[in-house]
Amino acid sequence: MIPNLKLNNGIEIPAIGFGTWQLSEGEEVEQSVSIALKAGYRLIDTAKIYGNEYGVGKAVRESSLERKEVFITTKLWARDLGFDNAFEAFEESKNNLKLEYIDLYLIHWPGPSPRVWLDSWRALAQIYQKGDARAVGVSNFEVSHLERLLDNTTLPPAVNQIEFHPFVYKKQAPILNFCVANDIVVEAYSPLAQARQMNHPVILEIAETYSKTPAQVLLRWAIQHGTIPIPRSSNSQRIRENLDVFDFELQEEQMLRLNNLSTGVSVL
Ligand SMILES: NC(=O)c1ccc[n+]([C@@H]2O[C@H](COP(=O)([O-])OP(=O)(O)OC[C@H]3O[C@@H](n4cnc5c(N)ncnc54)[C@H](OP(=O)(O)O)[C@@H]3O)[C@@H](O)[C@H]2O)c1
Repeated sequence: MIPNLKLNNGIEIPAIGFGTWQLSEGEEVEQSVSIALKAGYRLIDTAKIYGNEYGVGKAVRESSLERKEVFITTKLWARDLGFDNAFEAFEESKNNLKLEYIDLYLIHWPGPSPRVWLDSWRALAQIYQKGDARAVGVSNFEVSHLERLLDNTTLPPAVNQIEFHPFVYKKQAPILNFCVANDIVVEAYSPLAQARQMNHPVILEIAETYSKTPAQVLLRWAIQHGTIPIPRSSNSQRIRENLDVFDFELQEEQMLRLNNLSTGVSVL
C-alpha cells in the first residue's frame, strides 16, 4: 500500500505517482499505465500537451479499480492560457480522458504575462468550485510567481509540480521551502534526472548500502524531502522497481551528500 499525503484542501494524494510524458498515445501509454495500476500506483500524471490523455483514461477505465481509487492529474498547456481558453482546454482534457472529473488540474507553465496566468487561475478556481477538479495547482512556478499568485487569490494552489532531483537541488530548494511554508505540496518531476546520472558514484555507493538501485535512491531522496516523485517508465520491471521505495530510509548524511550533487550545471 502506498502512503498518502494531504493537500491543503483536505483531500488525499498518493506519496508517489506515475509520469507519462513521452509515452505515445495508444498501445504504449495504455500498456504502461495499465502495468503501473496493477503494480500499485494510484496517481497518474498526464498533460494535454503529452497527447496521450485518451490512452491514460482508457487504461484507468479498463482497470479493475473504481474511479475514486485513482488520482488523475492533467495540465493546462501554455497556448491555452487565459480565462475562456482555460475552460475550453479543461473540457477538451476531460473529453480526451473520458472521465467525469479530474483529481488535480495544473497550470503547466506560467508564461511571460502574469495577467494571463492570473486570469487562467480564476478559471481554475471556478473549475474547482464547480467540483470538476478536486484540487487545482501550478507547475514550474518560481517563488516570485507563487508570491504574486497568493497576493491575488483566495484559493491557494494545492500543488506546485517542479523539476526536482539532486542535480537541481540548490536551485529548487528555495521553491520547496516556500511551498512547505505555505502548505503547497511539491511534486517532483524528472525525479530520476531522466536516467542521465544513474552511474554517478555517490548514488551507486548509497544504493549498494541498502541493496537498492540508483533509481530507488533518487526516489527515496525526493520522498524524504517531502515531495511526491512521479517517475516515468515504459518497462514493466522498472515500473515496479520504482514503487519499491518504502522499506528503507536514507540517513541525514546521505541526504546531504545527494543534496550536494547539484553543481549549478543542468544535467537534462
Ligand atoms: N510539469 C512539467 O513541466 C513536467 C516536465 C517534465 C516531466 N513531467 C512529469 O514528470 C514525469 C517524470 O519525468 P520524466 O519523464 O522527465 O523523467 P524521469 O522519470 O526522471 O526519467 C524517465 C527515464 O528514466 C528511465 N527509467 C525509469 N525507471 C528507471 C529505473 N528504475 N532505472 C533506470 N532507468 C529508469 C526511463 O526509461 P524506461 O522507460 O526505459 O524505463 C526514462 O528514460 C513525466 O513523465 C511527466 O509526467 C512534468
